[in-house]
Amino acid sequence: MRPIRNIVILTGAGVSAESGIDTFRDAGGLWEQHRVEDVATPEAFARDPDLVLRFYDMRRSAVQEKEPNAAHRALARLDAEWPHGLLIVTQNVDDLHERAGAKRVLHMHGEHLNAWCTACDARSPWSAPLLDRPPCPACGERALRPDVVWFGEMPYRMDEIYDALRACDLFVSIGTSGAVYPAAGFVRNARDLGARTLELNLEPSQGSLWFDECRHGPATEVVPAWVEGMLARV
Ligand code: APR
Repeated sequence: MRPIRNIVILTGAGVSAESGIDTFRDAGGLWEQHRVEDVATPEAFARDPDLVLRFYDMRRSAVQEKEPNAAHRALARLDAEWPHGLLIVTQNVDDLHERAGAKRVLHMHGEHLNAWCTACDARSPWSAPLLDRPPCPACGERALRPDVVWFGEMPYRMDEIYDALRACDLFVSIGTSGAVYPAAGFVRNARDLGARTLELNLEPSQGSLWFDECRHGPATEVVPAWVEGMLARV
């Protein structure tokens, strides 16, 4: 087995659950409260933009009241102290990884705290509501939408992600159900390229069988313990 130098960590909603941010598919999760077709597709935005903007305005303001938890902090520590390659590929649109101090973070599904102008394509840091159609800071057009990847849209920075998967020796998946592609396929990509694979999740995910090892429990417990073990190797 090749030594572990380069690590790719995929995170999902489960890593932010203990910060009080709803996951999507757990009991009482977002997709039980709202129909995906009504709030998370380009068609929904064309059909009823107010409903979609209100949904993301609610989530954008809620995220700003939440704090990173022990799992976010442990990953930020690993990012700071791991002397080799490391990339946190997050499906989450919250900024809790960064607020915990992590630097090597890639948001493949976008970010709540950005607005995307559909007139000039600029992305601007944004923390206020979009429902009242504020002007784009770059072009002045009232054409801003949430900078979130909706179902049917291409995730961001896929080339960088596949480059990192090609170079990784260890692929770790944290707090994700394995229900949504292309993220759910990363474990097989990494395996096929000879990397070791580890799942850290509250319960077995839909892709558990593809992992060499699975550790199940709350992220605030299993992630700090795993990071401790990794840094003991350095
Ligand atoms: N600690 C660890 N794992 C947890 C915790 C916790 N405290 N709470 C829940 N989980 C696990 C659940 O067991 C589940 O496997 O986190 C996972 C959350 O799964 P989903 O709700 O499906 O969220 P995610 O996998 O991130 O969704 C993927 O789907 O809706 C789209 O774009 C959205 O990025 C999202 C994508």
